[in-house]
Amino acid sequence: MRVAPAEVVAIVGPSGSGKTSLLMLLAGLERATSGQVKVRGQELSALSEDDLARFRRKSLGIVFQSFHLIPSLTALDNVALALEIAAPELPMHKIRAKAADALTAVGLGQRLEHRPTALSGGEQQRVGLARAMVANPPLLLADEPTGNLDQTTGAVVVELMFDLARKNGTAVVLITHDPALAARADRVFTMTQGELTESTVVS
Ligand SMILES: Nc1ncnc2c1ncn2[C@@H]1O[C@H](COP(=O)(O)OP(=O)(O)OP(=O)(O)O)[C@@H](O)[C@H]1O
Ligand SMILES: [Mg+2]
Repeated sequence: MRVAPAEVVAIVGPSGSGKTSLLMLLAGLERATSGQVKVRGQELSALSEDDLARFRRKSLGIVFQSFHLIPSLTALDNVALALEIAAPELPMHKIRAKAADALTAVGLGQRLEHRPTALSGGEQQRVGLARAMVANPPLLLADEPTGNLDQTTGAVVVELMFDLARKNGTAVVLITHDPALAARADRVFTMTQGELTESTVVS
């Protein structure tokens, strides 16, 4: 599979087929036992743990299936921290302003000071999305980013991801069970028992 800048690729397939595992490989969070993962020409398996961390910090936004927000931090601080790590040269007031903008964009402008336990599942998912997008990464990986959202909110969130791809040239790899969402992607791949095939028909 190749993903071009500004391209949105959807991955569909049954539970347990290996979609999240693939995302972990693309993120450099797991190492492949065989085969290659190259991001912007860089072979991930050749990188040290420190270099992998640097790659994730500079080049990657990731929305995890299980959110992975920091429980002791507010929504605003969860997003601000990601930007502070990606762009430490920015002054703190700019970081906080951008974090607030990202949260407002996902409809959480009224939830900035809430901690994750005081947010619904869908709200936590949107904090995760704001965190993944706040630094405008060249690569965005998203694991069922609309899985906990109602249709209207899901559509808003999807629009944001497509915007990011088009405006910033972000390559987006999106895992979804939602056929309507997959149908909006530029290309769709189906994962079946660890095998990825490109499909023209969305199942
Ligand atoms: N850390 C792990 N160690 C061993 N096996 C694992 C590990 N993580 C996942 N698996 C197994 O690998 C297979 C693929 O899991 P994966 O999480 O990639 O599926 P998925 O396609 O994302 O499914 P879902 O749609 O339910 O999220 C499953 O059979 C799972 O049990
Ligand atoms: Mg999964």
